[in-house]
Amino acid sequence: MMRKDPDLFPVKKEGVFLAHCAVSPLPKPARDALTEVADSQMRLGGFGLAPYRKILEDLRTAAAELFSTDPDNVAFVKNTSEAMGMIANGYPFREGDEILSYVHEYPANHYPWRLQEKRGVRLVLLPDRPVAAQPTHGLPCGWSMDDVRRLTSDRTRLIAISHVQFTSGYAADLEELGRFCRERGIDLVVDAAQSLGSLTIEPDRCHIAAIAASGWKWLFGPTGTGLFYTSREFRQKLGDVLVGAEGMIQGDDYLNHSWQPHPSARRFEYSTSPTALAAALQASLRAAILPVGLHNIQEEIFRLQDRILENLDPERYKPVVFARANRSGILSVICRYDPETIMKEAARRGVFVSARSGYLRLAPHWCTSDEEVHRAVSVLNDLGRCAPAWEKCPAWCGTGCPPRPAPHRNIQP
Ligand SMILES: Cc1ncc(COP(=O)(O)O)c(C=O)c1O
Repeated sequence: MMRKDPDLFPVKKEGVFLAHCAVSPLPKPARDALTEVADSQMRLGGFGLAPYRKILEDLRTAAAELFSTDPDNVAFVKNTSEAMGMIANGYPFREGDEILSYVHEYPANHYPWRLQEKRGVRLVLLPDRPVAAQPTHGLPCGWSMDDVRRLTSDRTRLIAISHVQFTSGYAADLEELGRFCRERGIDLVVDAAQSLGSLTIEPDRCHIAAIAASGWKWLFGPTGTGLFYTSREFRQKLGDVLVGAEGMIQGDDYLNHSWQPHPSARRFEYSTSPTALAAALQASLRAAILPVGLHNIQEEIFRLQDRILENLDPERYKPVVFARANRSGILSVICRYDPETIMKEAARRGVFVSARSGYLRLAPHWCTSDEEVHRAVSVLNDLGRCAPAWEKCPAWCGTGCPPRPAPHRNIQP
């Protein structure tokens, strides 16, 4: 394990950062890479960018290590939604085909599928199920394999699911789901925004057709960056959605208009990319993810979460705990008091956590130290104590929680 060094993670000088599921702080090498490229463009325009021509290639190589795959299967994207849009709109659906997803997915993994209803495709949603060790009183929890089996039909072409749910932190068992999909000829598409960089993920081994992820959470990259994995077979199925010079083999031979898309995932980097941002993501992977390794990162995050679980005041916080195979980097807790207020008050005291959909999400990364965990937990435990007039959270009282999203009209009984 590398040193949890404030020179590598300057955020440590500001406080304890436990919101890696939201927008992560940049490690110093990422900021340096970003400003280096921006400075170079400032001085010399496109001539200044020329030395960085290989950035995307280097980034693909680094990302391929992350996915344990060939660099040809990886592309740089700007965010998760961009990649999901290229999949959903390029997929050869036929009228009456079905997509299976979960009722509480993040928008990046919902709207692209909803768009397909215009093509006569049915979006079938897995209902929420109480898959945690304790009730979540109306807050989103997770989904079950029984429902996956029950709601799959001979028209199901694709399952679109988050590796980790952004609300409760419920992680899909991708090995089991991948096996299920392979046996039935279903394409498994995974939103890994909340897992890539914190959990191991091996698409080739788990029969995953495609993975989309944003770069600014567990990968420590800047906003405006993301990664997109596709298997070779799946890529061949997808029609083109976004096209431009960079997606074609002839590249900057701009007046050669022959239709020759790259057979590799480079095809999805359809046009001019933000070089400075890609350089920063590359630097983050090289400095803060790959040298530690995904397996070590995952185990260290779970160890730090166990420290939190041991010390968090049960009179104020009820953690949502899952079986080992469904554990993730997000430790969501039901709070006695309003989580938004807790988030703001904690930030004032130098502890950065994230409130989302009724939960407070605690998300340490491998760089979080034991001392920081203890500092954060004592601030959180203290918060409820000194403000007894705060509004109680309905989920805490078991009376059900903030407005549940309206069930989608295609939800199955
Ligand atoms: C599960 C999940 N997917 C995707 C995203 C981000 O989507 P995008 O990269 O399109 O902004 C988030 C952000 O919170 C998320 O939690």
